[in-house]
Amino acid sequence: MTPAMPRLKRRIVPSALSASFAYLARDVKLIESAGAQSVQIDVMDGHFVPNITVGPVVIQSLRKETAIFLDTHLMIENPLDFIAAFAKAGSNLLTAHWEACSDPLVVIREIKKLGVKAGMAIRPKTPADVLFPLLKELDYALVMTVEPGFGGQAFMPEMLDKVRILRQRIDEARLSCELQVDGGINRQTAGLAAQAGATSLVAGSAVFGAPDPVLAFRDLQKLVDLPAVGQVQ
Ligand code: DX5
Repeated sequence: MTPAMPRLKRRIVPSALSASFAYLARDVKLIESAGAQSVQIDVMDGHFVPNITVGPVVIQSLRKETAIFLDTHLMIENPLDFIAAFAKAGSNLLTAHWEACSDPLVVIREIKKLGVKAGMAIRPKTPADVLFPLLKELDYALVMTVEPGFGGQAFMPEMLDKVRILRQRIDEARLSCELQVDGGINRQTAGLAAQAGATSLVAGSAVFGAPDPVLAFRDLQKLVDLPAVGQVQ
């Protein structure tokens, strides 16, 4: 009889896109005090997505203020040109978009050579199977559950099939790749994504857009926590 799959830890990852960029370190430290193990910094270049946010200099400043795991989501063209700068600035995870990579495997290997975790993201219209050959080298596979570029959008439930397919693929190959979702994660959708197999759930407006981000984070994390072994789910 094949041993049961290890129980998956599930984590809510607050996205700083909905935090105050005038007080970014304050907001990141607030959510760290709430128990968040990582925070996602959304990097947008105005070309890959129709929005512009931050670059390595912001990661560098944040790194001086906090030791939190900086999950850096690169929604940019030509990610290969920028991974060294983000790694030097202090990113702990660099997630590039499959659609922006001429050779995704080269990008993954270059990120890992820099001692940084490597992730690969797919937009809603990109099929899950483009990630299959990459999973064994990936630390994170990110299924976008909104069109990348803006926070506060509605969750796309039709993306859950991609999550299920990747969950099955990762489990069958007994890989350690985290399965992340990003976009429209809130009290109504977090459970759906977790049930589909996500182990990392990025939430921006549901956390930093809430009146009390600490409470909002803790409530969301409780929603996706696995019951203690022996407890009924
Ligand atoms: C989209 C961004 C957002 C953000 C989360 O490009 O990546 O998904 O992180 O935003 P919410 O949680 O507000 O949808």
